Amino acid sequence: MSFNIAIDGPAGAGKSTIARRAARELGFIYVDTGAMYRAIALGLLRRGTEVEAEQELMDALAGSEVSIGYEGEEQQVFLNGENVSGLIRTEEVSAMASASAAKPQVRAKLTDLQRDLARREDVLMDGRDIGTMILPHAQLKIYLTASVATRASRRYKELQARGQGCTLEEIIKDIEERDYRDMHRETAPLCQAEDAVLVDSSDMTIEEVVERIVTLTRERM
Ligand code: DC
Repeated sequence: MSFNIAIDGPAGAGKSTIARRAARELGFIYVDTGAMYRAIALGLLRRGTEVEAEQELMDALAGSEVSIGYEGEEQQVFLNGENVSGLIRTEEVSAMASASAAKPQVRAKLTDLQRDLARREDVLMDGRDIGTMILPHAQLKIYLTASVATRASRRYKELQARGQGCTLEEIIKDIEERDYRDMHRETAPLCQAEDAVLVDSSDMTIEEVVERIVTLTRERM
């Protein structure tokens, strides 16, 4: 049987960096489910889909096939066969991903793909509803969070490094709005699974968090 690790938490808690490193150390496959939502969002933006218009959304989803592959250890996400990994990290796609991920039709589209990957392989999957909805029987569940101030300052540094101008205030507002949407949507809201281990990374280094996850995994394997 495959060993599944579910890591959930709000935007900017460091999930993807930590998940990628922990997966490498454990020899697991890292599955970034946010990238799948982002790929769908990119498709919706390209088509100019009005997310609130049900039929329009259904039509757009019917024409949006998402799949993933790996280049070395790096997950690549494909939209209708096109590798869109380099196009999904913009603020515009982030906003559309958060809005469209609230739609049950969008979530249903990705559920089977995610469960199927976890059935076949030892995976470390990160997202918002992995421990609660997608992999309720995961052998290890982590709820990874950090204060808004910590997350905003990390994001600020990231954007600065990429040469994308943004103020800290804008980022804080964006994080708070996104948290609110992700935690209060009706379908699969972000919340800590009852049996998840809470890890607050505000005052921890990346290495410390990775070590914690690796140790917890080895204890349960
Ligand atoms: O983790 P991320 O920032 O790449 O995720 C992008 C958006 O997708 C985010 O607003 C929440 C949503 N998402 C989700 O609803 N469920 C997941 N399992 C992963 C991401």
